[in-house]
Amino acid sequence: MNSKEIREKFLRYLEKQGCKIVPSGSLVPENDPTTLFTSAGMQQMVPYLLGEKHPLGTRIANSQKCFRAKDIKEVGDLRHNTFFEMLGDWSFNDFFKQEQLIWIFEFLTKEVGLDPKRLFVTVFRGSPENNIPKDTETADIWKSLFKSAGVEAKDADFSEKNGMGKDEKIFYYDDNKNWWSRSGSPENMPIGELGGPDSEIFWDFGADLKMHENSSWKGQPCHVNCDCGRFFEIGNNVFMQYIKEKDGIKTFSKKNVDFGGGLERIAAASIDSPDVFKTDLFLPIINQVEKMSGKRYNSSASEEDKAFRVIADHARAAVLLVADGVFPSNKERGYFARRVIRRALVKAQKLGINDNFMAPMAEIVFEIFEGVYVFPKEKAAEELEKEETKFRKTLVEGLKKFNELILREKEKSGIIKEDGFVKILKGVESFYLYQSFGFPKELIQELCEENGIEFDEKGFNEEFLKHQELSRTASAGMFKGGLADAGEQTTRLHTAAHLMLAALRQVLGSHVMQKGSNITAERLRFDVAHSQKITAEELQKVEDLVNEQISKKIAIEESEMSLEEAKKQNATGAFENKYGDRVKVYTIGNFSKEICGGPHIKNTGELGKFKIIKEESSSSGVRRIKAVLS
Ligand code: SER
Repeated sequence: MNSKEIREKFLRYLEKQGCKIVPSGSLVPENDPTTLFTSAGMQQMVPYLLGEKHPLGTRIANSQKCFRAKDIKEVGDLRHNTFFEMLGDWSFNDFFKQEQLIWIFEFLTKEVGLDPKRLFVTVFRGSPENNIPKDTETADIWKSLFKSAGVEAKDADFSEKNGMGKDEKIFYYDDNKNWWSRSGSPENMPIGELGGPDSEIFWDFGADLKMHENSSWKGQPCHVNCDCGRFFEIGNNVFMQYIKEKDGIKTFSKKNVDFGGGLERIAAASIDSPDVFKTDLFLPIINQVEKMSGKRYNSSASEEDKAFRVIADHARAAVLLVADGVFPSNKERGYFARRVIRRALVKAQKLGINDNFMAPMAEIVFEIFEGVYVFPKEKAAEELEKEETKFRKTLVEGLKKFNELILREKEKSGIIKEDGFVKILKGVESFYLYQSFGFPKELIQELCEENGIEFDEKGFNEEFLKHQELSRTASAGMFKGGLADAGEQTTRLHTAAHLMLAALRQVLGSHVMQKGSNITAERLRFDVAHSQKITAEELQKVEDLVNEQISKKIAIEESEMSLEEAKKQNATGAFENKYGDRVKVYTIGNFSKEICGGPHIKNTGELGKFKIIKEESSSSGVRRIKAVLS
């Protein structure tokens, strides 16, 4: 069964049970400042679980787009994803355990056709310290459901110690595993938070696959919650009947249900593939990566296959994030978009893909979700391409630099470790990769791990803070010395000043350096080192050159790099001694490149007409120019 059929069947089946179907909410949660992303279907239901009336009633179902940022590091195995879809249904103090479990069992076994022999469940063991009883009601319902399907279902306890016995289907766990709230266990719940015992459903890919024997868990007993990959959790029924109060967990006045099932995993179970990347939710991406790289994907644990999976997961997530308005940046949500895109690009590079990548990926992802979600396709593709173009400028050089750095570390002997070398990427160096080549911190960390190099996280963080401090100082200094304010008109004149300095250097020579500036909303005043009067003819040339750049509508690019790198790129800098190790560089086409704290406008097209209104002597060897924009 393909994923579209499963999604549809789930919604139609729940509709038959009286649920109203609502659309997926955005990956950016509305009115919820506590979290960056929607990571469970219940997030948009919280007010109704708490008792507010839902306009559509007390039974709701949907398929919700989710992004779990905390799973980024897990991606690479056969079953973890950052972006996934959660099939969900909710009871707002309406149906409860009996109905929920019957429906879900019927949906999985009859609608999707999963063999009940291969389903396993977990149930809450109870928490005496919180006064919450063992959930025998749920266990009894499961037993009768399995029985009705002709399957023996025995209780099992302390499964992690003993492993699984014959016919044992029902496993009991404590509040670490079988209690669900947005903040985890009862102890971690803030006052007013809802939670409750949950009952998870697992699919068994079978002992024959020897996944356990071939995993790092070999030698320990295998059980449903073992991480070897033999079992997939495919659904979770949360019985939200408790609330955290000042004096602990109390029974809530309403009996709610919150069910969530991972579409990718149910789809994988339905085709009996322990690799979710073989489902139609990923396969077209994998196929495209095969085509572009000329390599084949084999579902193995090799670094190459892992790269395929990271790309497939991250490219899909990137498209979905950007489509929901999460554009790559260095902050908050945008940083996650940036991280998944850049990590996917590094992996693609490793598979030998140098061509533009995100745009063809976006096409394929749109296709996968055709008729399911509506995307602002053009805008999304544009943002993805923009980010790719930006990173491609530094990607290859950055990887080269990284290799140089680790080679140097490998060659350098120091305190003896097992293999004779100290291998550590120091904070200054990793920060350099971050700052000058745009490598996200976690990506550098991963590259270090892959190369057996220690990543000095503390050192990186220290550099990061130091830099933040420096850029604050730099921009404060800039406002004082140069710009009267950061208003629009002043900013335009500031950009014009950069163009003018570059033009002066072309017309008068590269000895012309900035000696000081004062920019207000009305005019720019600019002092340059030059020993003679600048002639009317020369001024005209400067004016023409500046206006020429304006008419070319050139985008202004901002980047950050080391001072050394900025000098290497021939960036002009006025107050070198004021800068720290890391500097911002503004580039205007091939015309101007200057170290500067900003701010600047985005495009020279925004400037209008540039005119020099005065040229005079300021002090010995220094000329003062005043200019305006109209
Ligand atoms: N909220 C629960 C979960 O995320 C069930 O939907 O697992």
